[in-house]
Amino acid sequence: MKKIIQKHINVLAILFIGVIMITSQADAQDYVFKKYEPAVDYKTADKRASEILSNMTLEEKISLVGGERSFYIKGFEKYKIPELYLSDATQGVHIRKEINTGLPKSTAMPCPSALTATWNIELAHDYAKAVGEECRAGGIAVLLGPGMNIYRVSQNGRNFEYFGEDPFLAARMIENYVVGMQSTGTMATLKHFLLNNTEYYRRKSNSIVDERTIHEIYTPAFKAGIDAGALCVMTSYNQINGEWAAESKYVITDLLRKDLGFKGLVMSDWWSTWDPVKSIKSGLDLEMPGEPGNHKDVFAKIGNTFVKDNAAKLIEDKKVGVNDIDRMAKNIIRTSIQSGVYDRPVKDESYKNKFAEHEQVALNTAREAIVLLRNQNDILPILPDGKKKILLTGQFTETIARGGGSAKVEGYNIVTMADALKNIYGAQIDYIKNPADEELKKADVVLLSIGTLDSEGWDKDFNLPKETEDLVTNTAAKNPNVVVIVNTGGGVKMTNWNNKVAGILYGWYAGQNGNRALAEIVAGKVNPSGKLPITIEKKFEDSPGADYVSAGEKIYNTWVDDMQPEIPIRNVKYNEGILVGYRWYDAKNIEPLYHFGFGLSYTKFEYSSLNVSSQNVKKGSKVKVTFDVKNTGSIEGKEIVQLYVKDVESSVLRPEKELKGFVKISLKPGETRAVEMTLNEKDFSYWDVKKKNWKLEPGNFVILVGSSSNDIRASVNVAVK
Ligand code: BGC
Repeated sequence: MKKIIQKHINVLAILFIGVIMITSQADAQDYVFKKYEPAVDYKTADKRASEILSNMTLEEKISLVGGERSFYIKGFEKYKIPELYLSDATQGVHIRKEINTGLPKSTAMPCPSALTATWNIELAHDYAKAVGEECRAGGIAVLLGPGMNIYRVSQNGRNFEYFGEDPFLAARMIENYVVGMQSTGTMATLKHFLLNNTEYYRRKSNSIVDERTIHEIYTPAFKAGIDAGALCVMTSYNQINGEWAAESKYVITDLLRKDLGFKGLVMSDWWSTWDPVKSIKSGLDLEMPGEPGNHKDVFAKIGNTFVKDNAAKLIEDKKVGVNDIDRMAKNIIRTSIQSGVYDRPVKDESYKNKFAEHEQVALNTAREAIVLLRNQNDILPILPDGKKKILLTGQFTETIARGGGSAKVEGYNIVTMADALKNIYGAQIDYIKNPADEELKKADVVLLSIGTLDSEGWDKDFNLPKETEDLVTNTAAKNPNVVVIVNTGGGVKMTNWNNKVAGILYGWYAGQNGNRALAEIVAGKVNPSGKLPITIEKKFEDSPGADYVSAGEKIYNTWVDDMQPEIPIRNVKYNEGILVGYRWYDAKNIEPLYHFGFGLSYTKFEYSSLNVSSQNVKKGSKVKVTFDVKNTGSIEGKEIVQLYVKDVESSVLRPEKELKGFVKISLKPGETRAVEMTLNEKDFSYWDVKKKNWKLEPGNFVILVGSSSNDIRASVNVAVK
């Protein structure tokens, strides 16, 4: 019998997925998104904040609006204001050795790009809840994540920290992340607002972007996080159209607060403010870290620009008002009250008992995140039947690949790739660090692990290092049955050897349990169900934004002191506008190596019976889209069903198609499910720069459903009147 999956997308960009008829055990579709409700409502918290503020001296208020000891917000015992610890970041708790919070370990979750590859909103919730609980165990009041800068170029060194190239997918994952995180009492911080899409001289880079692009591509994930109830936002290092994000009234007051409706606490990224008057007037609430730290040389050159040190004099000189400081302090106090930290201890040691659960979430995420990109002649799965001889070699077989910088998480109970495979295959697997040609030739299958170590602070070359490239081509020359396992944060170049290897598993940074998941997939114990949240280009020059580094310059791969005042500002022109990711490849007719939304399974799915509630839609009314998905293979599997909308004619440039719905469903062999999705007015609209709002232009649209952005299985026309 058929099961029916129903999906609605409402005007406020809040996704709701619910099962309306279940005939057997359901899975992810039972989960329903529900906005975060703060411990203390806004009005009550605001009143309490006013009372506290009325007792504080100006000096005390000023000392609150800049950070303390690098990662703290000051506390005042006499006002019962607790000191608050802020810690990184999106993929788990980054433990700083110099700060002892009594948290001995933290779970290394798969990186956020991997989480996004699951397309599983319930996992986004559970993953963030696990991280939030570890924050509570360590007395961390504010998590400095999730990061959600859109994947504009594959070379961004922080892509692993973010949620892929598509605003709709990122938005759905982020809203669930925020709710999962804040349900634990830990405040989430949406970062980095805005347009910090590469790391190359991130503190000297000026993102030049048009307004429509800002609204259609770069803010929807933030908007979703805000609508879900996120309490904090962190601004970015870069300039936006010539103004530093952390000092820009346009960015903070006009865009973030007025347009996107954010009412919480806005903090700066660490050392990213240069003019205290502008920072204060921009709408910023908290300057981090608010002191020179290890950048004393820079401030010796440019002078002391910190809000905390300058505010009193600036008030005296009437450059800023007491009311400005009051606003900043109030936003900090009110937001903290809302989270509950003024009414209970930040730290709750009982969460230390939940590590086993968190490890399980890390494992489940990895199981759904790994993407099978290539599987010639069904080389995978390789059954652990003692028959085939498997040789494992390559990089990251004894250590795990992970992202670095403030997002780095060490993890514990780490299972190496060699051990994870041995645990499943025993003697069937041979792990050889440097196999001789003969050994490579003799193996039935070679599992070759490669990867990159990406980090905040610099970008990574899309081209793999020469030794890695050589490793793959040489191995493939010896054996036709090579399966490459790619451990990385975003896209890397596979073009030269893609057709020479039998299989490719995109493993991302899969966290402390990632290798267990990988081994299960190789062995067929888990059917792969991840799909790419990014497009992987054939060559970097094919991609949008490929000219972000000026001619003659080269990216670097180590920390560069980009705060030095003599370093010039570099303009990064977002000339591709809204054509980011698959929107670009579609518009320019460039064939990428792997398309957005693509991923193979060990089974096959068939789509049929696409219908819409009406082909003539009145502006403002909703369109119900229904279709059936059947597992036509012989094993159970999960399919990520994708819905795209295409505007046929428009007075402005529209992408060829845009993702406006997805759902991950689990199907037994032979099972069929009816999927139902509801589209609303906004799903057909674009950002109108004249009206400064979303606009629906009546006309013909096509609704496309399929298994990837390039594998559309059915389509139907609708006319919007
Ligand atoms: C990063 C932020 C991080 C902060 C605090 C900065 O370098 O850009 O993402 O939250 O450091 O560690």
